[in-house]
Amino acid sequence: MASIQPAAPPLLRITLTPSAHSFLTPGEDSLLQAALDAGYVLPYGCRNGACGSCKGKVLEGLVDHGDSQPGALSLADRAAGYALFCCARPLTDVVLECREVSGAKDIPVKTLPCRVEKIERVAEDVIVLSLKLPVNERLQFLAGQYIEFLLKDGKTRAFSIANAPHAEGLLELHIRQVVGGEFTSHIFNHMKVKEILRLRGPLGTFFLREPSDKPIIFVAGGTGFAPIKSIIEQALHSGVKRPMTLYWGARHRAGLYLHELAQRWASEHAHIRYVPVLSEPAASDQWTGRTGLVHQAVLEDQPTLGAFQVYACGAPAMVEAAQRDFMAHGLPAEEFFADAFTFANAKN
Ligand code: FES
Repeated sequence: MASIQPAAPPLLRITLTPSAHSFLTPGEDSLLQAALDAGYVLPYGCRNGACGSCKGKVLEGLVDHGDSQPGALSLADRAAGYALFCCARPLTDVVLECREVSGAKDIPVKTLPCRVEKIERVAEDVIVLSLKLPVNERLQFLAGQYIEFLLKDGKTRAFSIANAPHAEGLLELHIRQVVGGEFTSHIFNHMKVKEILRLRGPLGTFFLREPSDKPIIFVAGGTGFAPIKSIIEQALHSGVKRPMTLYWGARHRAGLYLHELAQRWASEHAHIRYVPVLSEPAASDQWTGRTGLVHQAVLEDQPTLGAFQVYACGAPAMVEAAQRDFMAHGLPAEEFFADAFTFANAKN
């Protein structure tokens, strides 16, 4: 006898105004979470009803205000139709008046303490550092942006965030040891789990430009992979289907410190290709893949770049060569995006 499955609850429609973006949700998550899952970035701070950063107006429909705290949402606010989107769940179809984050300028830059949670040596000269923020704090950022550490001597050191914004809780950084670099030598030789640091962020304008249907070429050199990892994970999370090719260059095989992850993206997603390139493979690498300079591998595959959008991150010399040579092969100047902090803050 066929079993009778309970009917799925009807989906609710959330419409954002003035953008007129609209999406369906089962109504189990907060308005904020539902919007983020649908690929629409709304402003937020604490995500637990305390700071008011996510406050917006419910123009039509009903919501359950959940754990909204009176300090962030007063009774007068509620009476005027406001809600904290990080706490409120839709009970019916709703129309929300809210500001959407369309670029880095829409996200406030914060200064926060953070605690070292994990230190993983993934190559001789690369550490993946995981940082935890205070319990009531979240750092909103766009995939591809960076933070900077505020050091005791007043100096700053910048590092890209390597995880995607939807991966809650931890910030992941990929840190390459710089010969003679004071801060990285501290990280490699002395840093311990639970150390407290201060950071400021998010910063930078290296993030995926949407809407666009242009195929994307990512060019990463060494730990320039970090912000590109964030962008690709975010793109996969929000269902971006534009063709993407990742060229990741390193000197030796060990420099491709998350090679298997990139291979997995390519094997699991038909719209992603991965081309690893080594400039000086060691005999022990037994490398049978591409060799040479990473940006030249792009040109060997795509001598005409007029239809592409390119995101490059790595050593300044690589980024400069890529920009010059790609534009000489037809890439429009406005379709080349690079991680600027590598120029400003190369000595870590
Ligand atoms: S994000 Fe802080 S109150 Fe919603």
